Amino acid sequence: MSTPLRIAVVGSGIGVEHIKGFQELPELFEVKALCDVNLERAAPVAEKYGIGKLARSLDEVCRLPEIDVIDLCTPPAFHFAQIDSAVKAGKHVICEKPLVGSLAAVDSVARLAEGTDRRIMPIFQYRFGHGLQKLKYLIEQNLTGEAFVFNVDVAWWRDGEYYRNPWRGKRATELGGALLSQAIHAVDMVLYILGPAKSVFGRASTRVNMIEVEDCVAMALEMRDGSLGTISVTLGSLAEISRHRFTFRNLTAESNTEPYANSCDPWAFSFNARGNEKQVKDALEQFTPAPERYAGQFSRFYQALRDETDLPVTIADARAALEIVAATYHSSERNEPVTLPIGPGHPKYETL
Ligand SMILES: NC(=O)c1ccc[n+]([C@@H]2O[C@H](COP(=O)([O-])OP(=O)(O)OC[C@H]3O[C@@H](n4cnc5c(N)ncnc54)[C@H](O)[C@@H]3O)[C@@H](O)[C@H]2O)c1
Repeated sequence: MSTPLRIAVVGSGIGVEHIKGFQELPELFEVKALCDVNLERAAPVAEKYGIGKLARSLDEVCRLPEIDVIDLCTPPAFHFAQIDSAVKAGKHVICEKPLVGSLAAVDSVARLAEGTDRRIMPIFQYRFGHGLQKLKYLIEQNLTGEAFVFNVDVAWWRDGEYYRNPWRGKRATELGGALLSQAIHAVDMVLYILGPAKSVFGRASTRVNMIEVEDCVAMALEMRDGSLGTISVTLGSLAEISRHRFTFRNLTAESNTEPYANSCDPWAFSFNARGNEKQVKDALEQFTPAPERYAGQFSRFYQALRDETDLPVTIADARAALEIVAATYHSSERNEPVTLPIGPGHPKYETL
């Protein structure tokens, strides 16, 4: 494995945040190339971040022998074909959410990964915020007891200007709406803490903008561990917040409400009456913070390649989140609860 790993970022929208994340870790990564069909957009980005090579097509990037990792930051409908091309060119792949737009496609990506020594990592960078990581640590230290209930709010604001970007708001190109595109991070945070879901009942509707996909969602979930929770999502909240609240037997954990940083500090941990306060506080003092957000996911990606261990976010993780999306859409359309898992033969397996 070359050190630093040599990266080509494809797409110069959110791709800029990826470049910044890699450049926070110069001993681990070097961004060698930026690719975008829109060179007018990409050129000033390449100049600003000192990226030597500009490319107009993924094929061109795939042919560059000096690239180890292709990082896909393109609109969702391109992801599957681009992952396939990059892996076939012998590159490791990082890919923005949503990884792909159906459970059938995510299973195809998993088969692609099984047939190669190249690694494919979906992005879920919210996982690595220090607040959420502290809760994960307390669970690993057996300090929380069993989970009872969780409550999640994703209340964001998107207006007509946002939907002027032509791939957004359309089923064929965005692949889904607020749940798939925005709240999927919040769903992943729940799965990361509590493990797999058992059943979902949901309602999705389009109430805020004149778009094809949903922008308001309400869901009730039962997790395999028996805990119950709700997630509500809107893209019509002028006052933006995100919030996760988990109630365990021995503590409650509540995130801050910064809409795009609620997995980061500060989180409030409150204790039970039986006096576990000292244990929890002692454990939190032992917590060792690692990088957060994109740099957090990228540094763990580097370690996983170096040590040949599991990736910090796996294709199975992307599947689990996508399965909740598929189940919610199905539940909303049929007015019935959906039991997981969703596999071949289910009406929501091939398309969302
Ligand atoms: N993880 C997060 O927090 C987060 C945040 C925003 C967006 N995203 C995801 O990132 C992806 C991109 O979103 P965005 O907001 O940057 O979109 P965007 O439209 O702003 O940028 C996408 C860029 O990709 C380029 N592009 C399109 N097709 C291409 C192709 N075939 N080859 C090369 N370049 C191509 C476009 O010219 C554009 O510059 C989406 O999947 C989106 O859901 C994730």
